[in-house]
Amino acid sequence: MDSKSIRKEFLNFFKEKGHQIVPSAPMVVKNDPTLMFTNAGMNQFKDFFLGHKTVEVSKVTDTQKCLRVSGKHNDLEEVGMDTYHHTMFEMLGNWSFGDYFKKEAIEWAWELLTVVYKLPKDRLYASVFEGDKSDGLEMDHDAFGLWKDIIGEDRIIYGSKKDNFWEMGDTGPCGPCSELHIDLRTEEECAAVDGKSLVNEDHPQVVEIWNLVFMQYNRLASGELENLPSQHVDTGMGFERLCMAVQGEKSNYDTDVFKPLIEAMAKKAKLTYGDDEKKDIAIRVISDHIRAISFAIADGQLPSNNGAGYVIRRILRRAVRYGYTFLGFREAFMYELLPILADQFDGVFPELVSQKDFVAKVVKEEELSFLRTLETGLKRLEVITDDLKKSEEKIISGKQAFELYDTFGFPLDLTSLIARENGLSLDEEGFTAEMKQQKDRSKADAVKEMGDWIMVKDGDVEFIGYDHLEGDATIVKYRTIVEKKKERYQLVLNQTPFYAESGGQVGDTGHLEANGTKISVLDTKKENDLIVHFVDKLPSDLKATFKAVVNANKRSLTTNNHSATHLLHAALRQVLGTHVEQRGSLVNEKALRFDFSHFSKLTEEEIAEVERIVNVKIRENIQLDEKRNVPIEEAKEMGAMALFGEKYGDNVRVITFDKEYSVELCGGIHVPATCHIGLMKITSESSIAAGVRRIEAITSQNAQDYFNKQETEYNEIKALLKDPKDAKVAIVNLIDERNALLKAMESVNAERAQMVKKDLLNKVQLSGNINTVIEKVSLPNADALKTIAFELKNQVQDLFMVLAGDIDGKPQIAVVVSDNLVKEKELHAGNIVRELAKEIKGGGGGQPFYATAGGKDISGLDKVIEKAKQIVSSI
Ligand code: SER
Repeated sequence: MDSKSIRKEFLNFFKEKGHQIVPSAPMVVKNDPTLMFTNAGMNQFKDFFLGHKTVEVSKVTDTQKCLRVSGKHNDLEEVGMDTYHHTMFEMLGNWSFGDYFKKEAIEWAWELLTVVYKLPKDRLYASVFEGDKSDGLEMDHDAFGLWKDIIGEDRIIYGSKKDNFWEMGDTGPCGPCSELHIDLRTEEECAAVDGKSLVNEDHPQVVEIWNLVFMQYNRLASGELENLPSQHVDTGMGFERLCMAVQGEKSNYDTDVFKPLIEAMAKKAKLTYGDDEKKDIAIRVISDHIRAISFAIADGQLPSNNGAGYVIRRILRRAVRYGYTFLGFREAFMYELLPILADQFDGVFPELVSQKDFVAKVVKEEELSFLRTLETGLKRLEVITDDLKKSEEKIISGKQAFELYDTFGFPLDLTSLIARENGLSLDEEGFTAEMKQQKDRSKADAVKEMGDWIMVKDGDVEFIGYDHLEGDATIVKYRTIVEKKKERYQLVLNQTPFYAESGGQVGDTGHLEANGTKISVLDTKKENDLIVHFVDKLPSDLKATFKAVVNANKRSLTTNNHSATHLLHAALRQVLGTHVEQRGSLVNEKALRFDFSHFSKLTEEEIAEVERIVNVKIRENIQLDEKRNVPIEEAKEMGAMALFGEKYGDNVRVITFDKEYSVELCGGIHVPATCHIGLMKITSESSIAAGVRRIEAITSQNAQDYFNKQETEYNEIKALLKDPKDAKVAIVNLIDERNALLKAMESVNAERAQMVKKDLLNKVQLSGNINTVIEKVSLPNADALKTIAFELKNQVQDLFMVLAGDIDGKPQIAVVVSDNLVKEKELHAGNIVRELAKEIKGGGGGQPFYATAGGKDISGLDKVIEKAKQIVSSI
């Protein structure tokens, strides 16, 4: 079976068992403070497990894009070194939300593996949770009993909490699990060593392929477990490992999932994969990482300097560095894999296929910029090694290695390799210490303690902010957070008019009021589907009914900007083309910011045209057409432009301003009709990444303020020009006049300089056999001083000259020494001028034959002359 069929068989098998096939959620997670990337198939179903979301379909199956590079599940360092860990991988899963439990999960898993995929029964092992005293949990007797009947007691392994109790993160849904492991070694190897003894021992051919989790508990921040409202099943099978097993390969990279990528890289490096372990690792790293990077970008996460974007940047750099060091790649190379990748996922993950050109462009730019950093880092390292080679010390210090790592992205092994090549060693302990210090620093910055939710009363939670700015509310639950040593609180209300930050629109602020006391709501954010209000104090009566009031002015300005963003998006697609897709947005009460895919800078005409269209649409006063609770599929049929972040089970909101013009999926708040926006003005257009442009704009009151400010400025300028009829003509005249004056001034200055020069020539004095000129001069500019100095140097032999200049009110000294005197008398104009400059509270320097200095104290020029004369007499 090829990988496409293996995937299809899985989904079909569970479909036949009554499961609905659902799409993968995006790999990049929004609205969950505990998670950056999807790290397991169950992430998108977290709220079903916790009972926060009503279950409509109780059995689903899918293949989920996962990324395990941060947080609790992090495999990054293993990737490439071994043959069965990945950054991005597909997790095939089947789920029961309060439907079937252990029996069906176990029986179906066995049937699929042994009947459909025909994996040999005598090569499979099942593990069972042995219990855990600290959590007060018994061994999983049910799972044991079920497996005993299927696989036999001797093929069951007992696993500890570490291996057989699955948890999503430090908190959240969890439960005991049964893993299925497969032994893919040869007959001889199996005969020599029992497979059972190799389970969970990091053997590359005795690997876990499937994890069946029986979700029963919620891990609280306190560490305690509470029972979930119902029991669920969450299974996850590593697709790439399954392909290795079904296709009878020894490595995930030998399956058809990776082979095309491996071959392309081997061909580019002009080598055969399998000949040299170091180079093989590099090829594996690249083939793995390009998948992680590409899917993240296609899901809307561009590489950047912080958060999830930084994780992606680091993965990309790791791959580039492997290519650079071990395969000799000096040019961007990863982006060339995009067509192969898109081809492989055709029909599975359409988002990659439709965006392959864009993704390739972003990857290429990132590669190029990192290659430049690498080159700069190499130069820095060259300086370090050259210095060390000359000194006694032959060790690159931990600090230096860390600087290379931190600033130039040099991993330790690269620095160490180059050190060895130069006969130097490296202080690895010092490096580790520096690294630890930095980690401690960033940990200290990020300390954020979050208490458990404390229930005040049960009940559903409702958002009423689309229709109301005020409403009665009671507290459902609250918790304490400590951030930067400050205590704050988060509240969940039974109903709330407060919009929680999402879809680019900032959260509402406002207040809660009860019994004459007011509590400020500082921000509102989403946590999965919860609307969380940030407040700085708790009300004394937690059970009171509050009047919840949104800051209406801020909301209204924000709303104008949000609707304008939709009009802008549609206008951009009209003017630039339908390749324009939203890449990010920020909408607040001050302005809007819209990032979109487009490959070149917008011309002034394009910007003007976009602005014109938006303002026409504003004046057309298009009525808002808002549809709530639309199933996602239906919304797409309406032609709605989907963003990232929608997932299975989501009912979406469709916002239409003229169905021929702008239809978007959006949870944000909008104006009832476009006239409310008043006016839109684009204030800037720039690039934020390869292929991504950013437009910033203002609307309504802010746009009016902007134009008023411009007008005031214009009026002030006109007043300065004495209110001419035509200000532009007046300014052009002024410029012309100024130019003519400047020209005239130039010749006057030149004449003046010539006069000064003549005068100085007359003042040359013979002192011994040196011609000296020590004079104060008044000149219009520093250039004139320099010109005179050089002209006199050429005209007068054996010259020692000090000019103490008053240059348009500022002191400046020039010292000239004829070349022969420099040698014969060992005079150095630079040293002399430095000495003289003290008198004018300044400094300077220069060559032995000519030097200048500027200063602050013009009254010191006389002293300069005095001192210069003393110097002459001492020569
Ligand atoms: N959540 C489990 C895992 O990730 C099974 O899907 O392994």
